[in-house]
Amino acid sequence: MCGIVGYVGGRPALQIVIDGLRRLEYRGYDSAGVAVVNDKVILTEKKAGKLANLEKALAERSSDGIAVGSTAIGHTRWATHGGPTDRNAHPHLSADGRVAVIHNGIIENFSRLRAELEATGVEFVSDTDTECAAHLLAAEMRALRDAGDGPEGPHLLAEGMRRVVRRLEGAFTLLAIDVEVPDAVVAARRNSPLVVGRGDGENFLASDVSAFIEHTREAIELGQDQVVLITPGGIEITDFTGAVATGKEFHIDWDASAAEKGGYDYFMLKEIAEQPQAIADTLLGRLSERGDIVLDEVRLTDQDLRDVDKVFIVACGTSYHAGMVAKYAIEHWVRIPCEVELASEFRYRDPILDRSTLMIVISQSGETMDTLMALRHAKEQKARVLAICNTNGSTIPRESDAVLYTHGGPEIAVASTKAFVTQLVACYLIGLHLAQIRGVMYADEVAAVVSRLRRTPDNLRELLTRMEDVRELARDLKTASTILFIGRHVGFPVALEGALKLKELAYMHAEGFAAGELKHGPIALIDKGTPVVCVVPSPAGRGVLRDKVVSNIQEVRARGARTIVIAEEGDDEVAAYADHLILVPRTPTLLAPLMTAVPLQILACEIAAARGHDVDQPRNLAKSVTVE
Ligand code: F6R
Repeated sequence: MCGIVGYVGGRPALQIVIDGLRRLEYRGYDSAGVAVVNDKVILTEKKAGKLANLEKALAERSSDGIAVGSTAIGHTRWATHGGPTDRNAHPHLSADGRVAVIHNGIIENFSRLRAELEATGVEFVSDTDTECAAHLLAAEMRALRDAGDGPEGPHLLAEGMRRVVRRLEGAFTLLAIDVEVPDAVVAARRNSPLVVGRGDGENFLASDVSAFIEHTREAIELGQDQVVLITPGGIEITDFTGAVATGKEFHIDWDASAAEKGGYDYFMLKEIAEQPQAIADTLLGRLSERGDIVLDEVRLTDQDLRDVDKVFIVACGTSYHAGMVAKYAIEHWVRIPCEVELASEFRYRDPILDRSTLMIVISQSGETMDTLMALRHAKEQKARVLAICNTNGSTIPRESDAVLYTHGGPEIAVASTKAFVTQLVACYLIGLHLAQIRGVMYADEVAAVVSRLRRTPDNLRELLTRMEDVRELARDLKTASTILFIGRHVGFPVALEGALKLKELAYMHAEGFAAGELKHGPIALIDKGTPVVCVVPSPAGRGVLRDKVVSNIQEVRARGARTIVIAEEGDDEVAAYADHLILVPRTPTLLAPLMTAVPLQILACEIAAARGHDVDQPRNLAKSVTVE
């Protein structure tokens, strides 16, 4: 939550920072602001609302040096403390105007710090927790200067920051500039993301690499509780006490164009279209010639995995829905109990975990605070933790015992799409791997599922070419007051996911139900014309599930519902119960969500667009939720 960019080098910093913020705007868009050091002053501009408001304000500003200074910080905000106003937008300045600070996270002891600062005569001009950090930093630097024998120049700034962060509780990434030190930006991180970009005669700081990918591919991931000082020619990392520390260097191999819209109206549409490739990339190299699943980022031994007697899957939102699907696959293939739980609930109910528990945490961003806290709780209880994550270098994989990366590429739209399908693939691979090493499935059985998985990118490509009907349906449904979604088995999480997408993008009432539960209450919601999206399982095999869902469809139709039926090609009989029929390629039942979820993503996206909403940046949301 909140996007942060810092630059120091030989070029005008403002445009570099604004371009970086544009790439990070998915992290929050309640306000945006910049601070630039030029000619011994800090020049700031900040505006409530999206980045475009800030850009407009900058364009209207008379030339005062803000466009030429070569050291700058910038921020795009998801509001926590204090409403989304100009006043609360970052950067925040110290009372003497010498220091500017931006912040991602929550400073939990800020009320106490604020009271302390106010008692010394500091007047606050915002309602944010961040402003405390600006006043504290100025005070610490003043004290260091007054003492006379301390560090100087950029090192004074770094030492000031270390003294500040030692006083803070909570989660934070802080970036600061100082008018007296024109060629430096200092940053600190605890429980909140921060990466350094190493350039040539210039260096960068950002919440994630997409902010500087067009300038450098060399990055450094900072560890927990570290401070970094960047100058045009140097990157110095210490811990909070000042002891020299190191970060983890890595090369960014994402294509820079992956963070652009590439001709699509929205990032979401582009990311939906990228799903076949994302699935193929996530599958790449995962099956050996002998037919064994190869998960080489999994640093747990086969014996560790054989000792597992229970699996917990913990995640939030869309990632949680992927986990729900995984439960069906893991229990079916591995034959050990698997529980799925919302990360925000997990640790508060004192779950029973021990060394033989495998905890799978799923997170696209790798920074979701609820999931991170659940992970830490599991580790305290000695469980082994395996992360499924899309973001290299993020906190969740770093703190896990093992990680399986999904190779979805950057997901910029706030609503998750390609992350979901790649998470499903990762879950399937883990399920198959567990089944194989525990001797529940033979290599040829595993290979048969993998070979079917390998056909899904082509199946999905074909499905995506015939979504015109769904688009038309979306235009028709844009005025509906509610849309219900029903499904059974793996179709149930797909129904929940369809409803979540619609809520978050179209701001419409939508609910997903297990189809069999309708008669226990929710069926009372059905009125004449209520749209009900029905996810129908495959008729293959005994088709019991499918017949049950068909009965549920008839029940809602009998009450006047307008049915939108998602069924498998070849299931001709179901057409009789569908007001709108969306056919998806034939896929084994457990893998079917890779197909059935996709028309629902498009439906939500198109309804939102038809209602005039910002599809990529829905209100009140942020891509990376780094607060609990
Ligand atoms: C919905 C959506 C969210 C995320 C959730 C978890 O479209 O994107 O529900 O799935 O916030 O985020 P990650 O996977 O980054 O932990």
